[in-house]
Amino acid sequence: MITIPYITALTTYFSYGLLFAFGQFRDFFRKIFDWCRASNLEGYAPICLGLEDFYIRRLYLRIQDCFGRPISSPPDAWFDVVERVSYDCNKTLKRTSNTTRCLNLGSYNYLGFAAADEYCTPRVIETLKKFSSGTCSARVEGGSTSIHTEMEECVADFVGKPAALIFGMGYVTNSAILPVLIGKGGLIISDSLNHNSIVNGARGSGASIRVFQHNTPSHLENVLREQIALGQPRTHRPWKKIIVVVEGIYSMEGELCKLPEIVAICKKYRAYVYLDEAHSIGAVGKTGRGVCELLGVDTSDIDVMMGTFTKSFGSCGGYIAGSKELIQYLKYTCPAHLYATSLSPPAAQQIISSIKVILGEDGSNRGAQKLARIRENSNFFRSELQKMGFEVLGDNDSPVMPIMLYNPAKIPAFSRECLKQNVAVVTVAFPATPLLLARARICISASHTREDLIKALEVIGNVGDLVGIKYFPAEPKKHELEEGRAKQE
Ligand SMILES: Cc1ncc(COP(=O)(O)O)c(C=O)c1O
Ligand SMILES: *[C@@H]1O[C@H](CO)[C@@H](O)[C@H](O)[C@H]1NC(C)=O
Ligand SMILES: *[C@@H]1O[C@H](CO)[C@@H](O)[C@H](O)[C@H]1NC(C)=O
Repeated sequence: MITIPYITALTTYFSYGLLFAFGQFRDFFRKIFDWCRASNLEGYAPICLGLEDFYIRRLYLRIQDCFGRPISSPPDAWFDVVERVSYDCNKTLKRTSNTTRCLNLGSYNYLGFAAADEYCTPRVIETLKKFSSGTCSARVEGGSTSIHTEMEECVADFVGKPAALIFGMGYVTNSAILPVLIGKGGLIISDSLNHNSIVNGARGSGASIRVFQHNTPSHLENVLREQIALGQPRTHRPWKKIIVVVEGIYSMEGELCKLPEIVAICKKYRAYVYLDEAHSIGAVGKTGRGVCELLGVDTSDIDVMMGTFTKSFGSCGGYIAGSKELIQYLKYTCPAHLYATSLSPPAAQQIISSIKVILGEDGSNRGAQKLARIRENSNFFRSELQKMGFEVLGDNDSPVMPIMLYNPAKIPAFSRECLKQNVAVVTVAFPATPLLLARARICISASHTREDLIKALEVIGNVGDLVGIKYFPAEPKKHELEEGRAKQE
């Protein structure tokens, strides 16, 4: 649970209140102005609703220079950020030909595969030459290359399931699979902080949806028990099936799923477990096999394993892994498999090759080194941030570490000040987080060196003082106290 300091909550509400009031005030005059011009006499309803884009016009546009910054190099430990200028108070931003070399603390490049790799890159280029960049066909038509079928075997083997099916996009994997797995008369029980792709997949399925408190197994059990007792709405017939959807690492919180407890509860109530490992597969576990490996859960207890290749593997796409029967069923029925053009072959090759490196099948121990490095880097960075007094969310071993900002004014302040000192950070705010809980999200990579991390800590430390986001002033450590005393004496 995030507990906002009282004063911070007050000032955050006040800031949003002020922004809202001024925004409404300006909108009021705009409405009068528009009404005078009477532009919508043609009979069309406005295509963009007035209040719905209020947030964009009155809040987001003021700080949009902090988002969508173009880069012009691979998203490695350091990257080139394209400088932009604005001639209209940041309403529109124009690219310049200048770039700034920045330390990258934002990309999900957990294992460093997003940059050129001595094993992967030559194979990707080879595949590009042999197969070209696109298949121009769906999987069931001409779009299944030998690379795709090899990749499915490779992925199933890696995640520890009998079979796997791959998709061109991680987001689509969730939003298209859930409606195939479950429909009317079924029940989806979803973690309150699940990714938008899961939320939309669940809504699109037509199943009933209940939400349980984020990562709280006891609440999940209450919801399950209550729903099983109630049954389907109106008829009270038993549910056709129940699927509990959780994530391995929560991308906005950096928390590990309480998977062993959740699996035990699902078994007890005969509910299926759907696990989204977008941020955990490849990134955690002794051999990179994700949260099941890290937390000691048998993969046979997870009915549907989902993940993406857009993070640890430096590619694109997503997968569903499960029993042979399940995957066969999806192949016959899932529209995103039947009607969408298949994954680009070089992107598929990148996934096969990076998995081989992770498993040491390239004949080196670089994979093991990367896994050790991401863990060391993450735990070092997290503990240093905490020592400095930041409010850092998440668990040890997780490479995602959100730093709470809260106040809307602190979002651009933190982002711009860090960028001035060549550190690129990602800030996230509403609607990706609740309105009051804006944060900066640091993603650590195995390709960061110790010097990189120390530089980042220095900059973030200074900017943190400047912006005022050290909400937990550090307790002086024992030896520091003693030193202090010695000095006084
Ligand atoms: C938990 C989770 N699921 C799914 C996705 C979507 O994956 P992709 O970005 O590969 O489309 C993301 C993306 O960040 C995610 O965090
Ligand atoms: C526009 O963005 C720049 C940073 O890119 C910032 O320094 C400046 O204050 C912004 N201007 C306004 C009017 O918000
Ligand atoms: C690019 O950078 C140089 C040196 O900092 C500067 O003189 C020049 O004006 C910049 N160009 C643009 C288009 O911003």
